[in-house]
Amino acid sequence: MSIEQVLALARAEVRALSPYVSARMEAGRAAVMLNANESPWPPREDNGLDLHRYPEPQPEGLRGRLAALYGLTSEQLLLGRGSDELIDLLVRAFCRPDQDAVAIAPPTFSMYALCTAVQGARLVTAPLSAESFTVRAEALREVCQDEVKLVFLCSPNNPTGGRVPLEVIDHLATELSGRALVIVDEAYIEYAQSPSAATLLSRHPNLGVLRTLSKAWALAGVRIGALLAHADIVTLLQRIMSPYPLPAPCVALALAAVDEPGEQLMYERVRRIIEQREQLASRLRAWSGVQEVLPSQANFLCVRFTEAERVYRQLGECGVLVRNLCRYPGLADALRLSIGTAEDNARLVDVLQRVLEAP
Ligand SMILES: Cc1ncc(COP(=O)(O)O)c(C=O)c1O
Repeated sequence: MSIEQVLALARAEVRALSPYVSARMEAGRAAVMLNANESPWPPREDNGLDLHRYPEPQPEGLRGRLAALYGLTSEQLLLGRGSDELIDLLVRAFCRPDQDAVAIAPPTFSMYALCTAVQGARLVTAPLSAESFTVRAEALREVCQDEVKLVFLCSPNNPTGGRVPLEVIDHLATELSGRALVIVDEAYIEYAQSPSAATLLSRHPNLGVLRTLSKAWALAGVRIGALLAHADIVTLLQRIMSPYPLPAPCVALALAAVDEPGEQLMYERVRRIIEQREQLASRLRAWSGVQEVLPSQANFLCVRFTEAERVYRQLGECGVLVRNLCRYPGLADALRLSIGTAEDNARLVDVLQRVLEAP
């Protein structure tokens, strides 16, 4: 399958669009800058960031650093305001309202369905297996009929925590070659400590991978995510992206955080989270009132309780916030517990024990 066949899957009107060329895209920097109607003076507090100037549309420093971390070239990365923005861009570029569809394997991250609904596209689903909450590859293939242009797979999956095996992704991308793009959302991959689907990119031009700085990198407030994909897909999506998606202060903060010491710190914290996750899981499995703790490769546990609603409410009353999964199919009796610091987790265990022992 060629990249031209993949691009042909995008909406014709998007392919035909002449992209908006912002001043910063047309020309970089010069001694006298009078091409973007900016203020000639910086604001009072500038922190050396040249805040009176529009930022780089795709900041090369950060793009290069993340590309090196992910083992790709800069051209294969599209940076956005969190992976949320990139999910939205993909749906808008590839799905015509009332005609095309998106396939997902619920229960999964809700933004895929939301962006599909906002675009007026159809959602088709191949639910995870009811016993193990794993992707049913055969069922997924069956729902991927002609109108499906995008398949979102979340690995590790939010909110269940399990991974999609790379072989499943590899086969699906092969089978959907020329028909649809497979997008693997790896927001939590650092906690899984296993290879990324980015290792399959060179074999499948119809594959994309979403990464984010919001989780293991501890930068949720900075709002930076990346789509890893063929350079031509990156260029296509840039046509419908806002001209300056990434604020200069966010880029500077992100760049400072993802240097080598930052990477070491990130992996050290990942190790602590995994340790805490496994301790908490085995502790919870021993308690009556806990029906099941799903195996997790992320920074959270999906836990089924005999009385999930009451547990949720009483935890909240004691100042411990967890996520109620009652709206997710197959998880009406489950709560998602993020792994916090050792102190946070100890407090959770303490309160949870009291709640579960209460009549
Ligand atoms: C699976 C998954 N993908 C994407 C996101 C959004 O991440 P970002 O902060 O990069 O927009 C989340 C956030 O919770 C998530 O769980």
